Amino acid sequence: MIKFDKVCKAYKDKKVLQNVSFEIEDNSITTIIGESGCGKTTTLKMINRLIEPTSGKITINDKDIKRMNPISLRRSIGYVIQQTGLFPHMTIKENIELILKIKKVNSKKINARTEEMMEMVGLDADEFLNRYPSELSGGQQQRVGIARAFASDPEIILMDEPFSALDPVTRISLQDELMKLQEKFSKTIIFVTHDMDEAIKISDKIAIMDGGKLVQYDTPEMILKHPANDFVKNFVGKNRIWTSPNLIKVKDIMIDNPITCKEEFSIFYCLNKMKMSRVDSLMIIDENKKLKGILYASSLTNVDYENKCAKDFIENDFITAKPEDSIVSLLKVIDDNKIATLPVTDENGILKGLITRSSLITSLSQQFLEKEDK
Ligand SMILES: Nc1ncnc2c1ncn2[C@@H]1O[C@H](COP(=O)(O)OP(=O)(O)OP(=O)(O)O)[C@@H](O)[C@H]1O
Ligand SMILES: [Mg+2]
Repeated sequence: MIKFDKVCKAYKDKKVLQNVSFEIEDNSITTIIGESGCGKTTTLKMINRLIEPTSGKITINDKDIKRMNPISLRRSIGYVIQQTGLFPHMTIKENIELILKIKKVNSKKINARTEEMMEMVGLDADEFLNRYPSELSGGQQQRVGIARAFASDPEIILMDEPFSALDPVTRISLQDELMKLQEKFSKTIIFVTHDMDEAIKISDKIAIMDGGKLVQYDTPEMILKHPANDFVKNFVGKNRIWTSPNLIKVKDIMIDNPITCKEEFSIFYCLNKMKMSRVDSLMIIDENKKLKGILYASSLTNVDYENKCAKDFIENDFITAKPEDSIVSLLKVIDDNKIATLPVTDENGILKGLITRSSLITSLSQQFLEKEDK
């Protein structure tokens, strides 16, 4: 874990970072985002001691980095920057192998590793290894930059706007590539960007900075749904959630208080309850709110229900959704099963809410209107 503890940085009397405290989990992608000059690069460069704090402490696995040798610290951390930072007078091969050579890895291993890295970032080794950086496109150079950062297999990789100079198509494919690499190698990646879509897409956690302060540090989902203040709200932008429907969860749009009834209640009572509540089904639960089944008004037509109770007519074979399911999977379930009523239960089968076709449309359009109003 990388931990910032009340880190401040000032140049003369200009405060560039103020009391920045946060913890970066191992094997996760953390994005630092904010407007130009807010202190992103400064924060990043403190992790490999290219910049030293004025006050405060940074630890890696509980060790104060001030006590570590800065050179070996830097070698143990991968670093990718915007204009690749490749050495122009070195070939692609020499660039990728640099740290491994410094670390005196044997040359057979180095060769194998270099080829592996090239393949990993989707570049043909035979074609590119002996070229110079200027003979590659921006996107290809950035791939080499990533290959170089991963080559010595560091635990931590710092990336400072690595994709910002690329066209959108190349950028998206490199984001995908990075996510694939992360799935495979599971590094601790700290990634600086200006682009909220990029941050939402790749991050486990996002740190939003404003004027040298950390204003919110949370998952993409929480930042979209619960921005900490107006700055974050404006920064995130209107309707952003709609570009990330995977982050809209069943719990965000379900009816929280579905109309319920107990098994032993008479059908007469149940029908009356449906009528009063203007619903066409009741969720039948036990005393612990565990869902037993659904009673549909439609199954009570043309039947003799005198002296009968809910239990005699309930549908026990039902599909449920979980509060944490995304609406994308929910829509598929509703569509595949042609169902209009979908109870939401937790892992113990306790009723938490209800989604109906009409509630789905209403709450989605309401969310949309609310967002528009803001
Ligand atoms: N050596 C320095 N001396 C004085 N001020 C500096 C120095 N380095 C950075 N700054 C200032 O510190 C602030 C934060 O800079 P930093 O590079 O961290 O910003 P950033 O968020 O990375 O911006 P950008 O998105 O433009 O890269 C800026 O106002 C910058 O002018
Ligand atoms: Mg910067």
